[in-house]
Amino acid sequence: MQHSALLNIMIRAALRAGRGLKRDLGEVEHLQVSLKGPRNFVTAADHRAEETVREELAKARPDYGFLGEEGGVRAGSDATQRWIVDPLDGTTNFLHGIPHFAVSIALERSGVIVAGLIYNPATDDLFVAERGKGAFLNDRRIRVAGRQRLNEAIVACGLPHHGRGDLAQARDEIAAAQRAFAGLRRYGAATLDLAWVAAGRLDAYWERNLSPWDLAAGILMVREAGGFVSDLAGGDEVLVKGEAVAGNETMHRELLRLLGEAERASAATAAKPAAASGNF
Ligand code: IPD
Ligand code: CA
Ligand code: CA
Repeated sequence: MQHSALLNIMIRAALRAGRGLKRDLGEVEHLQVSLKGPRNFVTAADHRAEETVREELAKARPDYGFLGEEGGVRAGSDATQRWIVDPLDGTTNFLHGIPHFAVSIALERSGVIVAGLIYNPATDDLFVAERGKGAFLNDRRIRVAGRQRLNEAIVACGLPHHGRGDLAQARDEIAAAQRAFAGLRRYGAATLDLAWVAAGRLDAYWERNLSPWDLAAGILMVREAGGFVSDLAGGDEVLVKGEAVAGNETMHRELLRLLGEAERASAATAAKPAAASGNF
């Protein structure tokens, strides 16, 4: 399949970084049994992957800015164009030798995401999308699932990390989703969750407390596959708020409704003791 020059640049960068990560995954498997564990090695692999992506992209587009998870912001002479990169999404999976992680690259032009790529080197799944041109997995056009019944749908979510996030809120949301959908999944790589919604493998997905590099490529992927993505209030501030709800039109609408109900129910529970004690 013929890709645009822009996608070719992104693909070259992702494949090169991916080759390194795949090699490193082999080493991680060895280090698993060592006393020290693979943590420092993985941190170095993560930085190396970002450097590889940055180098490749800068070779082809030296003027563009760069926002990477590891290296932060680097301004470019062309302020309208910016790469948004997660060199290794799913670090915890990678650290444990679980082959579910990805390199993610998006291009933002004047505040609009115009191209996105998500690549899992372990499975060789390469997802790409360009604004207005559709979404593809390994050169095959992808579409979100058409499923309409909630009790047949598989939905992925994120969970608060150890010691972070609002556990009570997460529990309420999960309980609400569990009552409605056929099954819930937690895979551990936000970019792939969105790519899998785009490919129709998952019917819907939601998560809070994310960063732009977790979301940028995936938002475009889902929309170009005919799906819907919004923040948890149903608005368009996905990158700003760092949260997403995604699915086909029905799944997106119903998941938003369920999460809203869960939020109102937890707010009511949290308010009760205070109101009661105020009466005495
Ligand atoms: C994480 C993964 C994970 C999500 C986290 C992200 P990282 O990214 O996408 O699925 O739940 O909150 O931060 O740290 O592996 O790049
Ligand atoms: Ca990430
Ligand atoms: Ca990362």
